Amino acid sequence: MGSTRQGAVVRFVSAPMGHSIDVRLDALTSAFPCAAGAPATKTIAGCASGQTFYIETFGCQMNVHDSEKVAGVLLGRGYRQVETPEAAHLVFYNTCSIREKAAQKVFSRLGQFKAGQDAGKLIGVLGCVAQQEGEQIFERAPWVSLVCGSASYRKLPELLAELEGGNRRVTGLETDTDETFETEMTRRDHPFRAYLTIIEGCDKACAYCVVPYTRGPERSRPSPSVLEEVRQLADAGYSEVQLLGQTVNSYRDPSPRRMSFAELLLAVAGVAGIRRVRFTTSHPRDFHAEIVEAIDAVPALCDHVHLPVQSGSSRVLRAMQRTYTREEYLEKIALIRAARRPVSVTTDIIVGFPGETEEDFEETLSLLDLAQYDGAFSFKFSPRPNTPALALADPIPEEEKGRRLAILQERQRRIQTTRNETLIGQAFEVLVDGQSRKEGQWAGRTSSNRVLNFTSSRESLLGNYIQVRVTRAGPNSLVGEHVI
Ligand code: 5AD
Ligand code: SF4
Repeated sequence: MGSTRQGAVVRFVSAPMGHSIDVRLDALTSAFPCAAGAPATKTIAGCASGQTFYIETFGCQMNVHDSEKVAGVLLGRGYRQVETPEAAHLVFYNTCSIREKAAQKVFSRLGQFKAGQDAGKLIGVLGCVAQQEGEQIFERAPWVSLVCGSASYRKLPELLAELEGGNRRVTGLETDTDETFETEMTRRDHPFRAYLTIIEGCDKACAYCVVPYTRGPERSRPSPSVLEEVRQLADAGYSEVQLLGQTVNSYRDPSPRRMSFAELLLAVAGVAGIRRVRFTTSHPRDFHAEIVEAIDAVPALCDHVHLPVQSGSSRVLRAMQRTYTREEYLEKIALIRAARRPVSVTTDIIVGFPGETEEDFEETLSLLDLAQYDGAFSFKFSPRPNTPALALADPIPEEEKGRRLAILQERQRRIQTTRNETLIGQAFEVLVDGQSRKEGQWAGRTSSNRVLNFTSSRESLLGNYIQVRVTRAGPNSLVGEHVI
């Protein structure tokens, strides 16, 4: 369904106080070719006089939002965004290295530039592959000029100034930082939902995961700064915010207010104009009753929790260094299922972790039956550089991983179909975020984050909250009609 660019805004923030204003992206890019019309509060440390940039993002929502902030920095320097790498002077790839396949994608993109017709273009690799591969990227793809990991984005203005000054080997690769990446300006792509990073990095040490290496240590943003940004987003017309973090509920407020994560959720939901608050991803170890109590108390907190389990076998969970057992995880699920309103739960699962026996895998399948997830992202284990799992014996053959994945996905598909079918006949509030080319066909999301495709005789529904009755259900989405 995809989001439209309609109403996309650029937010100007005067650091360090965090005061900001939002302007529509189209207004900014056409009217301010060199961002000269930016408000007086804003410092523009350079001007690329009408140079253009293209940015492609791979991976998670954190990356998507990082790209919005990087785009904000570039717009602030006078670059103009274009839709194709061919049309751009500056081409950025914001990369993901969570699994081998994701990491390979960027090298296939970089391969397209070899031909030589791209002389004069500046190519930058950002994100997790940049952090992981570092300067080796220059060797593999000598036409790359910038390699920068997410923990160094704060330095982007300086790095860009170096690039603009003619330096062709610019890097930002430190991870030992306690800084978060708060930009003076953020270009937001989604017209109705605003992402907001509240905690960066990760201090957990899951044996399979590159994130602690690529995104650095955990660091939370002070709650007053988060709340100020939410107020500005509400003023700019956003009614839905999504709080982001690799382990969002491990949030520890560094400000003297020392808000717990649940208190922060309540405070965000209490901002005038905010109708929906989402948060992702939660780590089971830091998931407590207080969060469910907050969801129960305040309807603006969406009834959806993404709680990755990774495996249903305590033995594998221990090998994965996940810090909880199957039983402890199921206790967290029980907390959520005991909420006064139904809260949907989704998860991530890895099959074929080294040493995973058929019995372990069966335990994962039985956990699916017990947890009754509303959605699951499942993956074949992919060995990653620097991770402890690389050294583990007993790798599972690719073919076997594929077999397990197919079985698991089929089991989960059936669970979702059955769960979604129970919703037929019920009406839900959706935020309308998509319009089909076919007249009268729309799409929206429920508070539980289900996609609901529906028909309506009304016009101009985008961005509105309306009631839709479910008439049909599939495993991944619902079909319904506008209740007028
Ligand atoms: N192999 C397969 N899946 C992985 N994930 C993280 N690292 C790996 C890996 N090495 C999955 C986990 C995580 C999700 C974002 O990606 O399930 O929750
Ligand atoms: Fe990776 Fe584990 Fe941190 Fe999630 S909690 S980002 S899986 S190390």
